[in-house]
Amino acid sequence: QDGMNAQELGKLLHREPAEIVKKLFMLGVMVNQNQSLDKDTIEILAADYGIEAKEKVHEDLSDLDKIFEKEMENTEHLVSRPPVVTIMGHVDHGKTTLLDHLRHSHITAGEAGGITQAIGAYQVRHGDNLITFLDTPGHAAFTEMRARGANITDITILVVAADDGVMPQTIEAINHAKAAKTPIIVAINKIDKPDANPQHVTDQLMQYGLVPEKLGGDTIFVDISAKFGKNIDELLDMIILEAEVMELKADPDQPAAGSVIEARLDQGKGPVATLLVQQGTLHVGDPIVVGHTFGRVRTMTNERGRDVKKATPSSPVSITGLNEVPEAGDRYVVFDDEKTARAVGEERAKEAQVEERRKTTRVTLDSLFDSL
Ligand code: GTP
Ligand code: MG
Repeated sequence: QDGMNAQELGKLLHREPAEIVKKLFMLGVMVNQNQSLDKDTIEILAADYGIEAKEKVHEDLSDLDKIFEKEMENTEHLVSRPPVVTIMGHVDHGKTTLLDHLRHSHITAGEAGGITQAIGAYQVRHGDNLITFLDTPGHAAFTEMRARGANITDITILVVAADDGVMPQTIEAINHAKAAKTPIIVAINKIDKPDANPQHVTDQLMQYGLVPEKLGGDTIFVDISAKFGKNIDELLDMIILEAEVMELKADPDQPAAGSVIEARLDQGKGPVATLLVQQGTLHVGDPIVVGHTFGRVRTMTNERGRDVKKATPSSPVSITGLNEVPEAGDRYVVFDDEKTARAVGEERAKEAQVEERRKTTRVTLDSLFDSL
């Protein structure tokens, strides 16, 4: 531990303090028995004795995934949370048109003017309910989360153009949703088109196990026209219905935990990250560890660029105040005090550095061998 002296360290390692001092001398560190040692010196010494000097607490804390999982399980005051929805489908089948339509027609009351700032995710209001949509399907965050076997989406909307039918990326989307065990709601789009054939699309989808409820299956199908806004309310009703069946819940009373949707470096603001709150409530001022970086939430804005003081489960927010730019798909956890957050953050930053150095060393060695 930081600040220990040779005497205390000797006791811990079952060595005479004099031996410790001697050893330190040989390592080029001149101290007496009572002088407190810094962490690096202790680590070097411990390594010399073949002992991992990592403070136990740090070792546990640096496993952010583990802390995250614990946060997700730790749920004392569960309340319903909005569903997090992803729109997927083949090229040109109308994903962006649907998202744009929702963006402009279903914004929160009193916030007319629409979304001024694209932050990769946004919420729409439907009656008394909120629904969180994640923008840009096939986004880096999903790919990254998928690679780790984790998932941030509750429901997948599969958009299939009624005049085009099932296509390669339609099948890909079905497989992705199945792998992630998220329910699919089928939105057969472009039904306004004269050559639209929703029945044919349904027949095709049934071959992939998506059977409409009216035919004895358990998949919800909605015929829509994203371009003309037809049946969009019905689609939103179905999302709410599905969400109710899923009983999506979170505990807003605990410190926040969640995932990074996207992140970038802003010239003026520094690192800016869009976070999805998956557990707890995120507040301005919260000490936070995000991936391999950390900080304190300095500012927090919603998808309309409005400053917000707190963000409840399933809300997407854009934050500043991190030391570095995290990566899409990274997890984050809020800590009760800044000291712990800093300790965990620094530990993780160090790990990342070691990993980076290992990589560069490998590269250097490789190029060295290549040049021989
Ligand atoms: P990618 O992002 O390239 O994968 O495509 P996308 O799925 O986002 O499709 P997008 O929303 O860009 O729509 C493709 C074309 O289809 C555009 O020209 C839209 O105007 C048109 N379109 C989308 N929805 C409808 C619809 O309901 N009816 C009609 N008639 N056209 C539509
Ligand atoms: Mg698009």
